[in-house]
Amino acid sequence: MPAIEASGLTKIYRTYRKERGLWGSIKGLIKRRYQETRAADEVSFQIEQGEFVGFLGPNGAGKTTVLKMLSGLLNPTSGDARVLGFIPWERRNEMKRQFSLVMGQKNALWWDLPAQESLELNRAIYGIDRTRFEKVVDGLSELLEVQDKMNVMVRELSLGERMKMELISALIHEPRENGSASFYVFTTRNIASSPY
Ligand SMILES: Nc1ncnc2c1ncn2[C@@H]1O[C@H](COP(=O)(O)OP(=O)(O)OP(=O)(O)O)[C@@H](O)[C@H]1O
Ligand SMILES: [Mg+2]
Repeated sequence: MPAIEASGLTKIYRTYRKERGLWGSIKGLIKRRYQETRAADEVSFQIEQGEFVGFLGPNGAGKTTVLKMLSGLLNPTSGDARVLGFIPWERRNEMKRQFSLVMGQKNALWWDLPAQESLELNRAIYGIDRTRFEKVVDGLSELLEVQDKMNVMVRELSLGERMKMELISALIHEPRENGSASFYVFTTRNIASSPY
């Protein structure tokens, strides 16, 4: 069974088009005009467990839309998908516990806490075993070369350093017994050989 499978995944966004100005707002109250955007059009692929993949496309191609459907944040307009055997948009807890999604504009870390404490808070919230937590945080902070940044307030980190902390935070979750099926686009050479 593939870890991630998309078949004919399609998403059409329906958005309200407001005309300009006050008159446009008033007209909008009477007759709404909608625009349809076919953000994902019959997307199909399979990813096997342990496979590393890149998901590339120009801006607006629909990458984030597909990832949101695969992680259960959005319902598709049509098509089907299975992630670890689950239908993502049913949002089953068993599935949510087994995958991570790191997005540039979404933060799991608290701005006013040092990175280490922010990670510790995530550990407590998700009830992650301390031994595993320390192994992952120590290993990844060394690999990503952010050991000397662990006690810096998250808001004072550079974007790249903050994303590394976000990645660590995403990887402290308990892995599945037979390996993790998360997928990431890695750009740093040494992450690709990471055991985490
Ligand atoms: N919530 C939304 N409502 C309406 N249209 C949307 C919505 N989200 C995305 N779109 C549109 O759907 C299309 C695909 O967007 P999406 O964010 O999936 O692209 P992307 O491949 O992730 O792009 P980027 O490389 O810029 O991140 C775009 O035309 C975008 O304007
Ligand atoms: Mg995107």
